[in-house]
Amino acid sequence: MADAAPARAAGRSSAFGSRYEDWKEAPDERWRQRFQNPRILNLIAVLDGTPVAMAGGMLGERIELISMWVAPEARGAGVADALIRAVEAWTAPLAPELWLSVMPENATAIATYARNGFEHVDETGDPLPHGPGHELLMRKLLDRSGRS
Ligand SMILES: CC(C)(COP(=O)(O)OP(=O)(O)OC[C@H]1O[C@@H](n2cnc3c(N)ncnc32)[C@H](O)[C@@H]1OP(=O)(O)O)[C@@H](O)C(=O)NCCC(=O)NCCS
Repeated sequence: MADAAPARAAGRSSAFGSRYEDWKEAPDERWRQRFQNPRILNLIAVLDGTPVAMAGGMLGERIELISMWVAPEARGAGVADALIRAVEAWTAPLAPELWLSVMPENATAIATYARNGFEHVDETGDPLPHGPGHELLMRKLLDRSGRS
């Protein structure tokens, strides 16, 4: 995705723009900036007391869903759906739509996003970090009727 997650299990190129290896030696200041940035939402999902997933939102020209990762043992249980709903709730008072970018070969993630109402956008995403091609862009128009 556009902003990278420090997720060890994310693999080299099918999910994220950067890898755990890119962050594990990062100075404290870089981590602090990442987690104290008021324009970035950081979420952790906890199952039976154990953190099993993460996701976030990033406020820029658009608001993007970022850093979606669910531990393998927690997949297939709707954890991603719950995180997406939480990022949507954070976004709705701020913007009418939520964007994301996803690697074109990441069929599982694309299916999860499509099931949650995201649609492909006919716009070229960022170049892939490790080869030819571009990220796919998806967007969801949010229901803002219930926002306070
Ligand atoms: C994409 C991802 C976030 C989906 O998370 P999730 O909580 O498993 O999402 P869902 O519960 O909606 O499951 C997604 C699909 O994968 C299937 N699935 C994936 N792994 C599974 C597992 N270990 N056991 C059972 N089902 C699994 C689910 O059945 C579901 O299929 P369906 O849509 O046909 O029902 C997760 O697979 C993941 O973290 N992948 C690696 C990181 C990644 O690609 N992040 C996205 C970057 S854009």
